[in-house]
Amino acid sequence: MAGALTDKHVVLGVTGSIACYKALDLASKLMQAGALVDTIMSYGATQFVTPLAFRSITHRAVVTDSFDPDSEYSVEHVALAQQADVIVVAPATVHCIAKLALGLADDPLTTTIVAAKCPLVVAPAMDGNMYDHPATQANLATLQKRGVVIAGPGTGRLASGLTGVGRLLETPELLGHISYAIGKNGDLAGKTVVVSAGGTMEPIDPVRVITNHSSGKMGYALAEAARDRGADVVLVTAPTSLPEPALMKVVQVRTAEQMWQAIQSHLKKADALIMAAAVADYRPTEAADQKIKKADDDLSISLAKTTDILKSAKGDFVRVGFAAESQNLVENAKAKVGSKQLDLIVANDITAEGSGFGSDTNKVTLIDRELAVEELPLLSKYDVSNRILDRVKRLFRD
Ligand code: CTP
Repeated sequence: MAGALTDKHVVLGVTGSIACYKALDLASKLMQAGALVDTIMSYGATQFVTPLAFRSITHRAVVTDSFDPDSEYSVEHVALAQQADVIVVAPATVHCIAKLALGLADDPLTTTIVAAKCPLVVAPAMDGNMYDHPATQANLATLQKRGVVIAGPGTGRLASGLTGVGRLLETPELLGHISYAIGKNGDLAGKTVVVSAGGTMEPIDPVRVITNHSSGKMGYALAEAARDRGADVVLVTAPTSLPEPALMKVVQVRTAEQMWQAIQSHLKKADALIMAAAVADYRPTEAADQKIKKADDDLSISLAKTTDILKSAKGDFVRVGFAAESQNLVENAKAKVGSKQLDLIVANDITAEGSGFGSDTNKVTLIDRELAVEELPLLSKYDVSNRILDRVKRLFRD
């Protein structure tokens, strides 16, 4: 399955921190995402983890800081810099960050970085006091001003046993930063895309809700794909079990009404609204304050209609809806194009194999304003997202 990292040439720089062990997981996940990974380790890094470990994961030679007269690196280091689609330093120590801020080139990693023109991601990992030091802060600010993507650090338990800022970000967050860095000048740069995701939850009482089977995967994939093409993304999401994607504005909501409020407040800037969320059409008219106790009789709950967000959202932006149908797919979806004034609808038959709730793949049919129908093959949700975004891009007026 293709993604933002497929066939991308990643140079992974590893510097001396106990968080080096996490860089092995990052290398592994980059490989699984289809990237080619060349590792460059500082001398300090080799004291924590062996080059063999990275070589075993990446199936490629590992460049180290130690002087090796037989190394081909001396002739290849400029080539490595030129081939790279992105360079990632994870973990990046205080010392390495200071060298990068100064533009020093006294080892294979810093030499490669100075010789490269591709995006650079720096993921700091250090003790909290070292991170807070004015020199470190100034150096990170210098790098950021230069366009370097600073990934983290996160907050949590540090190797010192203290809790604070300084942890290397977890692998999924690092992957998000790397994808973003590769695509930040992509074909959607300068556009704001508002995406909704997940199934809303309408409270019956403090413990019970009306909801649906939406996993949020389609909306999250769309948000990530738009980010990976350079868009500014606002993801308005009902509760899901998915981790929050990096480098976008994520607004967590629960009910249809909250989703409508959140979307409304971001519409002014929107170039596109993509409603992938499964929004409840009805909510309990009154949510009970206290837990409803079981009685001998049956219980009826009165339901009120929610706001139809797509119908109510007014403005000059591309409008994309979804239609999850279990029968008469094209016919039902076509009706929604008109009733919701859509530029595009993504119809998916939730009963088809490999499609629908919780799946990582989807087989959808795209129907535009003129009711022209394009049936897509079974694709990963990320690939489906890119096909949708290709259409959205064509709908932008400039
Ligand atoms: N939608 C919305 N607001 C709602 C309900 C749905 O904006 N209150 C959006 C969905 O996010 C989706 C599109 O409208 O993009 C179609 O949703 P769907 O549930 O298929 O259509 P409904 O209009 O609710 O019609 P029905 O449930 O009868 O099929």
